[in-house]
Amino acid sequence: MFYYNILFIIFVLSVKSARILKDTIGFPESEENVNLVNRENRHPIYLPSLCGENELYYPGDQKDDWICDCRPGYLYYPEKNSCWPAFRRGPCSSDEHLVLRLNSVIPICVTNPCVDGFVMWKGRCERLGSTGPCPNEFPPAVLWINATTITVECIALNFDNRYDTYTSIEMCLPGCKRHVQSMCVPRIM
Ligand SMILES: *[C@@H]1O[C@H](CO)[C@@H](O)[C@H](O)[C@H]1NC(C)=O
Repeated sequence: MFYYNILFIIFVLSVKSARILKDTIGFPESEENVNLVNRENRHPIYLPSLCGENELYYPGDQKDDWICDCRPGYLYYPEKNSCWPAFRRGPCSSDEHLVLRLNSVIPICVTNPCVDGFVMWKGRCERLGSTGPCPNEFPPAVLWINATTITVECIALNFDNRYDTYTSIEMCLPGCKRHVQSMCVPRIM
């Protein structure tokens, strides 16, 4: 019985020290999983442990060059080194919102005649995400950001889950971090 106790204590101690060792060294578990899962199926994924707020993890040209960048519909604002939702106040002053002008690379703050969360649409302030401004559409649509053009449009509601919606998106979207930093060129520009 005495020996069993000793053995048990040794077992517990070795399990504990293995854990501590693992925590200290910090094995890149998540990255490895990403590569395993997406080696064939290269699309951006949500990986908050590795990427910043409002970012996804995007595959690059090579197998192992994944990189964090803004979610679709979000813009990289170099001054703050982070991604912000297009057509929202974000890093701008209280009467402004963040937009990306056609054929430009760096998002800018411009006056928003509406309150934050609303945009000018057909002469009226309409709420982003509302269906009212997009009547008689099938499938139903909401007023939202087209991530490919960074413009406000009636966007058809996608009933797929979140994971699937990322499979079809462009890898280099206008105003994303890599675009702003000249690391990629959006197809649309
Ligand atoms: C965004 O705009 C592009 C270009 O006009 C269009 O091809 C695409 O279907 C739009 N995306 C959505 C989700 O409506």
